[in-house]
Amino acid sequence: MSGVDPARERLQALREEIDGHNRHYYVEDAPRVSDAEYDRLMRELLDIEAAHPEWVTSDSPTQRVGAAPLSAFQSVRHAVRMLSLGNAFDAADVRDFDERIASTLREAGLLAGEAVEYVAEYKFDGLAVSLRYEGGLLVQASTRGDGETGEDVTLNMRTVRSVPLRLAGNAPAVLEVRGEVLMARADFEHLNAVQAQRGDKPFVNPRNAAAGSLRQLDPRVTATRPLRFYAYGWGELRDADGRAMGDGQADMPCQTHAQMLNWLAGFGLPAGPAHRICLGAQGLLDFYQEVAAGRARLPYEIDGVVYKVNALRAQEVLGYVARAPRFAIAHKFPAQEETTLLLGIDVQVGRTGAITPVGRLKPVFVGGVTVTNATLHNEDEIRRKDVRVGDTVVVRRAGDVIPEIVGPVPDLRPADAQPFDMQALFPVCPVCHSAIERPEGEAVARCTGGLFCPAQRKQTLWHAASRKALDIEGLGDKLIDQLVDSGRVRTLANLFTLNELELAAYPRMGEKSARNLVEAIAAARRPALSRLLYALGVRHVGETTARDVARHFGSIEAVMAADEDALLQVHDVGPVVAASIRRFFSEPHNREVIEALKRVGVDPVPDEPVQGRKVLEGKTLVLTGTLPTLTRDAATQLILAAGGKVSGSVSRKTAWVVAGEDAGSKLAKAGDLGVAVLDEDGLKALLAGD
Ligand code: IVH
Repeated sequence: MSGVDPARERLQALREEIDGHNRHYYVEDAPRVSDAEYDRLMRELLDIEAAHPEWVTSDSPTQRVGAAPLSAFQSVRHAVRMLSLGNAFDAADVRDFDERIASTLREAGLLAGEAVEYVAEYKFDGLAVSLRYEGGLLVQASTRGDGETGEDVTLNMRTVRSVPLRLAGNAPAVLEVRGEVLMARADFEHLNAVQAQRGDKPFVNPRNAAAGSLRQLDPRVTATRPLRFYAYGWGELRDADGRAMGDGQADMPCQTHAQMLNWLAGFGLPAGPAHRICLGAQGLLDFYQEVAAGRARLPYEIDGVVYKVNALRAQEVLGYVARAPRFAIAHKFPAQEETTLLLGIDVQVGRTGAITPVGRLKPVFVGGVTVTNATLHNEDEIRRKDVRVGDTVVVRRAGDVIPEIVGPVPDLRPADAQPFDMQALFPVCPVCHSAIERPEGEAVARCTGGLFCPAQRKQTLWHAASRKALDIEGLGDKLIDQLVDSGRVRTLANLFTLNELELAAYPRMGEKSARNLVEAIAAARRPALSRLLYALGVRHVGETTARDVARHFGSIEAVMAADEDALLQVHDVGPVVAASIRRFFSEPHNREVIEALKRVGVDPVPDEPVQGRKVLEGKTLVLTGTLPTLTRDAATQLILAAGGKVSGSVSRKTAWVVAGEDAGSKLAKAGDLGVAVLDEDGLKALLAGD
């Protein structure tokens, strides 16, 4: 009896189909089937293999995980050294690189036109790995190590779904592919959420998470970690006769690096996403700019771009220096993370009394500025991250967000570093010595001093003067400090009695600035009601809520008179906000401030009513990351003016997430919930009604 067993045929078809789905899902980021359908196919394949154990082969998609834990990684000597790259940090470095190459190639008679042809690629921020295929089967995977010898991570790399266990098509006898293992941002956030749920330590960044996952001795653990692999090069290549390709023994399969990437992709390898052929230094710099601008929207982190001379013959002529090729260079983005010493932890008292621990750092240049302080958010966060004074810490500053301490570098901890104990160090408010309260279940500790606390008073005034509130230009934090410390200003109303003469007497205040400030204060006597409401600093009342409340009630008296039921009638005001507004206006000293404001001539004007239907009427948008030209404020104002709302968190009700550079978890959440994502241009088109 000849003829193929139908079960065997089905087995083959299932393997191919599952491999195809893996490729779509993990390589092309475009899943073709639901998880349920994928699971069904896997189960069917597992059933056939259970009935026919003799058909199970190591390249079956069922065999990615399975091996027992290792006690240690074996070392692997690389057949072809794994190199590193030289770095370029600015345009001048890139021009130098291009000139060096052009002159060598011109001398060698290899530069026909004016400009050198390059391939530009992403510089993936992960770990270099070499995969070795023999006869089309994955036989070994190794880390870079020192470039000569790495560690054998075959069992772990087999669990990475974008890595084919068997190459498609007619692969050479030996094919080593080199690339980067990394973790996508959304996968990283998800993994950290799982870690937190289990009470395990979170990973500091996707790169560390990828490294930790790859270096697991138990491949079953690695299998639960969503790693990805992207190929950008190759190592040893041998044809069917065992001859080394490109070594004088046998020809290379292609003539350019770009063709090689396509050749690798033809075997089902995830090679070179988004690579581009560029001409000359200017072509490279254009690519850099473009990638830098769109970087935040990539699903994974990149720390720069890599330029490689395209022609393989030219690469050969250019050769190598030490451990890096002369024909390639990495053009790095300014680092967004650096390490530095944590010299101390202070606390700051916010407008609502919230006590925020702030790390004092040995100055460090990160994200384009020198950082000396970075937030630690709250006490729980410090404990969770186990950050201690004396630690070397990772500091992150992405875009124009507040710098934060991501976590300690445990290996560099001094032996005597003590855990941070906020209660012991700050038993009372360091500013007004009132008690500090931390209600059950709340992460934030608060000074109970209220407006008795100079810190809260200063922050309240600063908030009231800020651009989105009364917009009093020239009233900076230094002057506020002096006005409060001297006792001249205790409440918002006191600001309106300041005169030129006395202001001019304060340090660093000339006559002119005193006059300008008095004018700015005078102009603030007629604010929109929404601005005044916002300026008062009622907890939970941001600018959007202030505007809703102002439009609904039309006067400050009406707001003060409203009970909770009346407040709940306001669009988008829920019980928490209603109670907070009620509480604020039932406090005698707050009512006194309003009365005093009236006495000094503050008289708010009603907000403009909504005219007609606006383009964003009833829509809620979320802003995240840094937009290329609009500040966060400007974007918010435009959205509000178009009738939309801006919220701080993404939910199913979010109409759009507007994402800029270094967008983080909100962008990931949008992806999870299927919320549409726009960039700045998209937002502008929306506002224009396109
Ligand atoms: S090529 C022949 N291309 O960067 C040169 N490396 O700083 C070998 N990397 O160890 C490297 N993306 O881990 C190359 N598109 C890319 C890359 C890339 C990330 C990493 C790789 C390497 C390190 C060198």
